[in-house]
This record gives sequence, C-alpha cells and structure tokens, in this order.
Amino acid sequence: MKLAGSRIWVTGASSGIGAALARELESRGSQVAVSARREDKLKEVADGRMHVEPVDVTDKAAMLAAAASIRAALGGIDVIVLNAGAWDQVRVDRWDSEVFRRHFDVNLMGLVHGIEAVLPTMLEARAGMIVGIASVAGYRGLPNSEAYGATKAAQINMLESMRVDLRRHGVKVQTVCPGFVKTEMTERNSFPMPFIISAERAATEIADGIAKEKAEVVFPLPMKLMMKTARLLPVAPWAALLAKAVRRPG
Ligand SMILES: NC(=O)c1ccc[n+]([C@@H]2O[C@H](COP(=O)([O-])OP(=O)(O)OC[C@H]3O[C@@H](n4cnc5c(N)ncnc54)[C@H](OP(=O)(O)O)[C@@H]3O)[C@@H](O)[C@H]2O)c1
Repeated sequence: MKLAGSRIWVTGASSGIGAALARELESRGSQVAVSARREDKLKEVADGRMHVEPVDVTDKAAMLAAAASIRAALGGIDVIVLNAGAWDQVRVDRWDSEVFRRHFDVNLMGLVHGIEAVLPTMLEARAGMIVGIASVAGYRGLPNSEAYGATKAAQINMLESMRVDLRRHGVKVQTVCPGFVKTEMTERNSFPMPFIISAERAATEIADGIAKEKAEVVFPLPMKLMMKTARLLPVAPWAALLAKAVRRPG
C-alpha cells in the first residue's frame, strides 16, 4: 500500500496512539481524517492539514454520517484505523456491569460501527483496508482486565474471522496488538508496565505495518515474544503464575 496519497480515517485520534499515527501518516503524504469526541484536541492534532470529523464511535448513525462526510471531503476512504478505545480496571469485589457495558460499547461496538460505515463502499470497490487496534491484553486473561481484555480478545477474534471472509472481496484486514504505550490511557496505571514505548514509536510501527499490508502487527518485540509465548501456556499454570506475580507483600 502506498501511504502517499492514500485516504486514511483514524478514530480515537485526539490523543495518544491515534494522534501520533495521524501525524505520522500525514508526514508520509497520506490524506488523513481524524475523529474522536474532543473537537479542540482534534484541531490541534490536525493543525490545518487533516480533515477533522468529531464523532462518538458508540453512536452508529453518527458514525455512518461521519463516513459520508469524510468520503465527500477526501474523495473516498482507502484505509480505516479503528483505534478509539477505553480502559478501566475491574475490581472483582466491586463488580459493576456498567464498566463492562462502557468497554463493549466503545471498544467493540465502536469497531463494529466503523466497519459498517466503510465496508459497503470497500466491497463495491473490491479494495480497502480495515485496521483494528486491539492489544496483547487480548491474548490472555490479565489481572483487573476482565472488561478491557474481553473486548480486546473479541476484537482479535472478530478481525481474524473478517480476514477470511473478506479475502475474496479484495478487502484487507490488519490486527494491531501493541504492548504498553505511554498515553493518557496508561498514565493512571500504578502497576509496572514492562517494555513501555512512546506513542510516536507505536505510530511508526503501525504506519510501517499498513504500508506493508501486514495481517498482524505486534510490538515491541520483547512484549510480542513474551505474550506469544504466554499464549502457549496451559490455563492452570498461567493462573498460578499471574496470581503469584500480583500477590502483594503483607
Ligand atoms: N496505551 C497502551 O498501552 C495501549 C496498549 C495496547 C492497545 N492500546 C489501544 O490503543 C488504542 C488507543 O489508546 P491510547 O493508549 O492512545 O489511549 P488514549 O490516549 O486514551 O486515546 C483513546 C482515544 O479514543 C478516543 N475515544 C474514547 N472513547 C471514544 C468514543 N466513545 N468515541 C470516539 N472516540 C473515543 C479518545 O478521544 P475522545 O476522548 O476525544 O473521544 C482518544 O482519542 C485503544 O484502542 C487502546 O485500547 C493501547
């Protein structure tokens, strides 16, 4: 995929990975449209060089309208990067279905709405690329990640199914699984975040992955090796290992 000249819509682009990716893609010559709820932040990111389309990904009708507006502004959408996301810890002693609903609405239905907004025209054109920003947190159950991890696992599985079904239609699907990245999302975390990288580094990895049309982009390498290996561990030893790791002194 030639990034220069490609028309790319990035959701969740008002901060973090999405903002850095939008800037990276624009610097490589792509025509970029940026979305999120905070319009002021989007305008800062766009700096007059991108199309700004504020939208809440949980609102299906608004997402369909946003796609139409972006198509009109850019002349089409070649790539959608479904990056909008939310993360909150789950406390099993304060189980709250609203925390789950929020994660599923933003992380999963937000992704589904974005796909619904671009897929018909991609199918018609027999071209296009759908990029889903999932996480290595979707590979295994992690502590306090019952809601976030479940949505990330669902994203990975859904994108994998789509890759099979869309193959004969000429539409490509890419799954991106970052490890820890320094963003607004992680700044409130008080637990250790091994191998953490900057949003700019994450953006370079993702832009390179889009250019190479990779099916899967997982980074950074040490986290990729650790979590791909973790996937092979049987269920009981994984639980024992994690329980030991999170056991607090005293
Ligand atoms: N940081 C990490 O360590 C890490 C690791 C693996 C995967 N990821 C994934 O990377 C993606 C980006 O996260 P980040 O770390 O860059 O976090 P971030 O800085 O908090 O960015 C999240 C983005 O999503 C947008 N967003 C949230 N709810 C939305 C909604 N209802 N409608 C539209 N936009 C919404 C936010 O914008 P508004 O608030 O302006 O709407 C913001 O632009 C997420 O999918 C996350 O799960 C992050």
